[in-house]
Amino acid sequence: SRTAAVIPAAGRGVRMGPGAPKALRTLNGTPILVHAVRAMAASNAVTLVVVVAPPEDTASVRNLLADLALPDRTDVLVVPGGENRQESVRLGLDALPEGITTVLVHDAARPLVPVDTVDAVIEAVRDGARAVVPALPLADTVKEVEPGPGNAPEPVVATPERSRLRAVQTPQGFDRATLVRAHGVRSPSGEGATDCAGLVERLGEPVVVVPGHEEAFKVTRPLDLVLAEAVLARRRA
Ligand code: CTP
Ligand code: MG
Repeated sequence: SRTAAVIPAAGRGVRMGPGAPKALRTLNGTPILVHAVRAMAASNAVTLVVVVAPPEDTASVRNLLADLALPDRTDVLVVPGGENRQESVRLGLDALPEGITTVLVHDAARPLVPVDTVDAVIEAVRDGARAVVPALPLADTVKEVEPGPGNAPEPVVATPERSRLRAVQTPQGFDRATLVRAHGVRSPSGEGATDCAGLVERLGEPVVVVPGHEEAFKVTRPLDLVLAEAVLARRRA
């Protein structure tokens, strides 16, 4: 079985504040996207990385990645992305060649995921799971609320039992046919899912969780850049 990684990297990074698209901002001088590509290529199983770039930056991303020294086994393709993550992932899936049977979908915004986590996800797919997500138990208690306008106090609706909750990361791993089918289904509400596994769940197919890793956190807000650079500095020490 051959494994490809699709990296959605087409987002603006609105929560990061004004500046370049998030995947092209740097951590210790290296674009977040480059860290993410290296993280996928670090797995011996990954033979192809499909990067889904901000449409207007597709050419510059192609140049950026052409200069990367990656293992010989790893090819890189760059395709333009879409309006939301789900659409970007679908555009990445459309670019997969024949022969790929296992697909990882990995947020560019999780540049520091360790290779052991990547390999654990791939192994679970190879062992027969059709959809695998890495996830961690939560530190915070979570409340479900009735969202209100502006900053008005919001009524609490429920407190799910924390020990049963998991915060989901990427790479999520899939049997290719299952993931393609999941992306082909129109949801009744027209609502997108915030992760690919959510689409597989809507098919009624099983999704399983394997242990995630703290360093696979999503770089979302400015403070996350500080944390990510500290993680890199610790790795180099
Ligand atoms: N993504 C994408 N195409 C989009 C939107 C998001 O490929 N149209 C990607 C992002 O580049 C990111 C991943 O999906 O790697 C997870 O999304 P998120 O962390 O929300 O990134 P952004 O959407 O860029 O950030 P924000 O929501 O703050 O704008
Ligand atoms: Mg987003």
